[in-house]
Amino acid sequence: MNDTRAARIASLRAELDEHNYRYYVLDDPQIPDADYDRLFRELQALETEYPELISPESPTQRVGAQPSGQFATIQHSVPMLSLSNCFNEQELAEFDGRVRKGLELTDQASAVVYVGEPKLDGTAVSVRYEDGLLARAATRGDGRNGEDITANVRTIRAVPLKLRGADLPHVLEVRGEVYMPLKGFRAYNERAEAAGEKTFVNPRNAAAGALRQLDPRLTAARPLAAYFYGWGVIEGWDLPETHSELLKQFRFWGLPVNPLIEQVEGVEGCLDYYARVGDRRANLAYEIDGIVYKVDRLDWRETLGFVSRAPRWAIAHKFPAEEAMTILQDVEFQVGRTGAITPVARLEPVFVGGVTVSNATLHNMDEVRRKDVRIGDTVVVRRAGDVIPEVARVIPDKRPAGAGVVTMPMTCPVCDSEIVRLEGEAVARCTGGLICQAQLHGALVHFVSRRAMDIEGLGEKLISQLIASGRLRSPADIFTLTVDEVAGMERMAQKSGQNLIDAIERSKQTSLARFLYSLGIREVGESTAQALASHFGKLADLIEAAEQDLPTAGAEKTKDRYPRLTAVPDVGTIVAGHICSFLHEPHNRAIIERLQACGVHWPDVDVKQDAPGPLQGKTFVITGTLPTMSRDEAKALIQKAGGKVSGSVSGKTDFVVAGEAAGSKLDKAEALGVAVLTEQDLKAML
Ligand code: IVH
Repeated sequence: MNDTRAARIASLRAELDEHNYRYYVLDDPQIPDADYDRLFRELQALETEYPELISPESPTQRVGAQPSGQFATIQHSVPMLSLSNCFNEQELAEFDGRVRKGLELTDQASAVVYVGEPKLDGTAVSVRYEDGLLARAATRGDGRNGEDITANVRTIRAVPLKLRGADLPHVLEVRGEVYMPLKGFRAYNERAEAAGEKTFVNPRNAAAGALRQLDPRLTAARPLAAYFYGWGVIEGWDLPETHSELLKQFRFWGLPVNPLIEQVEGVEGCLDYYARVGDRRANLAYEIDGIVYKVDRLDWRETLGFVSRAPRWAIAHKFPAEEAMTILQDVEFQVGRTGAITPVARLEPVFVGGVTVSNATLHNMDEVRRKDVRIGDTVVVRRAGDVIPEVARVIPDKRPAGAGVVTMPMTCPVCDSEIVRLEGEAVARCTGGLICQAQLHGALVHFVSRRAMDIEGLGEKLISQLIASGRLRSPADIFTLTVDEVAGMERMAQKSGQNLIDAIERSKQTSLARFLYSLGIREVGESTAQALASHFGKLADLIEAAEQDLPTAGAEKTKDRYPRLTAVPDVGTIVAGHICSFLHEPHNRAIIERLQACGVHWPDVDVKQDAPGPLQGKTFVITGTLPTMSRDEAKALIQKAGGKVSGSVSGKTDFVVAGEAAGSKLDKAEALGVAVLTEQDLKAML
């Protein structure tokens, strides 16, 4: 009996190890997490029943040890070094020069082969395997002595408890980086914040903190991962000739190696790699702060040796810092195209992410309060990739006495109209509409943009001048401009004026989708505009649908609202609400009419009238869990067949489709005598 149990245990372990390997090393998982968990629980149950069959390398034994009082010191048999840095092409070329000189390479034509590796922003570890089993793990410490974090490292699923394969070194000490993937980092912080606990400033601190937990169960609860990139000791196994071959071997043994690692040639190859990885940096699942280049040939490394605490054969090429400290001098409020008021920090200029930044967004007042930003504070500014610079956080210790509290003005800084903040929205808005020059400017810039009305030659500066001169008060005014008027503006002349007027004339012939998009209705982007145009065909039909959809007192539940507009693919109740209120606003309707009166026109769109479906004119309510389809699927099928789907049962309901655990709607249907269908019945009708 025990034999078959032992065999099952062994096979479950092998299977789980294999899935782990596919997941962490090959990045090619074969089964869903739930299946993994099922196998895991089966193994756990068997091991509970037969504790004598438990072995330390079983996948269930990652979190074992009780909290240790403190970490023991481990002396590294080979010191863990650090890297020297370079920050630009010149310094990189100097490094390559030193390598070539050290190797006495005189042939200018032959470039040194390096290995380019992302420089992970985590915390360095050394992990020792003895005869294939994880024996010990240590932090870098001061490079000579680290702390024994074996129990904590065992909890990291990316770190194998047992190496794969037969031809294993007797001793293998691998070095790598433990890191916290960004997704896990953000989720961790969100949870910590909701629970009122301490959050981490960055994933590096989070990873380091997790590894230094005295209770390994706490480490296990943090989402950590690891990549290996070097070694300290290898005994009983012959080293290959190159670092890249060794990394390949790491993967065979089941040790995760960063898939972005590549062989590159010479300075040029290094720079190209730096640029390519740099481009991908913002989309990586983890943080990196630079690139490491390492001489690939191991015998050359031997020749080059070390200077003080860093190897001569490797260098880190750092990315420009994405965060920098500066002083927040003032907070101003900017008004966007839709009236959104954004607090903007005016900063003492600071070099960050490769550019000088003097303004940074504070997003909205909730953010200002959450970060407790005050005027005069020392703040950390962050600019990652192409994103807008933002104030990431305040350094509270540096707050001067009397630092000014930031308050939202009551009225718009541009037009003095009232500022309102709707319930449930983080953003406050100016109510001035097109009276507000800031909103007008934004609306006009959008209106003329390439994907909207596509009026070439009407740039932001010219728009500002025409607004200032009082000549543009609404998009419709564009179509009344004359050559002389525009030719009289700064940096314009008769010829450019004529070109602009020609472009305006040409733009009058447009499409319904472009026209709808150019109106700048909140959350109506190009694809929504396209969907509205295809669905309604005519502007008049869209306006009529919006009027009929206007919320009435009866329809209090959001899901019952806007039935006509939400019948358009991709239009939900929020977008439908924006469309309704925009089209219901008399001055917006006046602008539309004026635009058409000025000659803006488009062909009606053929609305593909499918032959009336079998459910034409029928109203359905779906309730409970259907046996084979989701409610959304059922809804889509009904709509496709011409039927309507409503959220509540009333006298107008023709059918209620009821699944399992149908509640009050079914009761109401029965009370009202509405026909009740099963999913089967519905399918038959379709
Ligand atoms: S090699 C002897 N490779 O950077 C070479 N280090 O500044 C020692 N790091 O302590 C390190 N990614 O924590 C190396 N691909 C990589 C790395 C890397 C991150 C960290 C590591 C090390 C520090 C050195």
